[in-house]
Amino acid sequence: MLPQAGPLRWRNVVDTPAVLIDLDVVERNIRRCQEQCDKLGVTVRPHIKTHKLPLLAHAQLAAGAVGITAQKIGEAEVMADAGIDDILITYNIVGERKLGRLRRLADRCRLSVVADSASVIEGLARAFANARSEIGVLVECDTGMQRCGVLTPEEALKLARLISDTPGLRFAGVMTYPAPGQGNAASEWLDDAARLIREAGIETQTVSGGGTPDLYAMKRHASLTEYRPGSYIYNDRSLVAAGACGVEDCALTVLTTVISSPARGRTIVDAGTKVLTSDLFGMSGYGMVLERADCSVISLNEEHGRIEYASEQAPVVGELLRIVPNHACVVSNMVDSVHLVRGEYYVRAEPVAARGQIT
Ligand SMILES: Cc1ncc(COP(=O)(O)O)c(C=O)c1O
Repeated sequence: MLPQAGPLRWRNVVDTPAVLIDLDVVERNIRRCQEQCDKLGVTVRPHIKTHKLPLLAHAQLAAGAVGITAQKIGEAEVMADAGIDDILITYNIVGERKLGRLRRLADRCRLSVVADSASVIEGLARAFANARSEIGVLVECDTGMQRCGVLTPEEALKLARLISDTPGLRFAGVMTYPAPGQGNAASEWLDDAARLIREAGIETQTVSGGGTPDLYAMKRHASLTEYRPGSYIYNDRSLVAAGACGVEDCALTVLTTVISSPARGRTIVDAGTKVLTSDLFGMSGYGMVLERADCSVISLNEEHGRIEYASEQAPVVGELLRIVPNHACVVSNMVDSVHLVRGEYYVRAEPVAARGQIT
């Protein structure tokens, strides 16, 4: 159960710039995603990189998620400290220091990780030889994102064999992060890989896909067992632009104050790259102003956001404006705490516990 609002309105409490999280919207987004995944017959393993908050990870688990996904060991350590006991790290872990931390983390939770080469698997094998706890390893597959991942189902089979034959490692399945818009095609790729691996007599427990852009466009697939959405909990301008959600589904906004309206058609707010980030995410402009559809966030300096507007009515110095950022996940990483709200009402400030965990 997420906390309820008190009697105060956030506009009378919060100093700017600040990040607001509307828990009414968060709860709706969590419920809708869980219902969709139930319909698809897959379990939910949300990626916590979007919110970095143990409070919301627990809310996702309470709604039915089977565990969480993290990108970095540091994020996973913070979540394990908060009592979360089933974590998948979707990142190649390379280097002795990180492998040592991974081994220690495996003693504290049910841990799995991904690998896309024999070198990564050899590192895991060294770290987990004679370890107290084994680690699950999924083969990461490149189904079109052109990031990490093996390029063919045959290569996936080769690595599945290597993992299965390595003491201390448990072959846990295959995973991918699809290119946006390619969720269904990516799952067909995984179907082929899983079939090949199973035909070779290797048990393939998990077939894991993900990505918010395709969440509500997914069909049922023969082998997909798990979905890892992240951004769905907050949504953002990029997802509105992709048609994956509406503006009313955006839970994270950046609250700003108008600090100058120096010329006709131009106004300046107190949020720049240090809050909104310079992530264009393939779009033009740096966010969507909720209160003023005629406003465009044209450019940013560190502490200044330059807005241009079409109407005759200039934003007034001191006025509050909320901006839906292009990409919510990166904004979460910019602030020590976010302000939880419900509609107009204030709940409390919440420390972003897994902020800045880049190793
Ligand atoms: C490996 C992996 N899984 C899942 C996700 C969640 O994706 P989304 O935020 O599109 O839901 C990401 C996001 O970057 C990712 O990299």
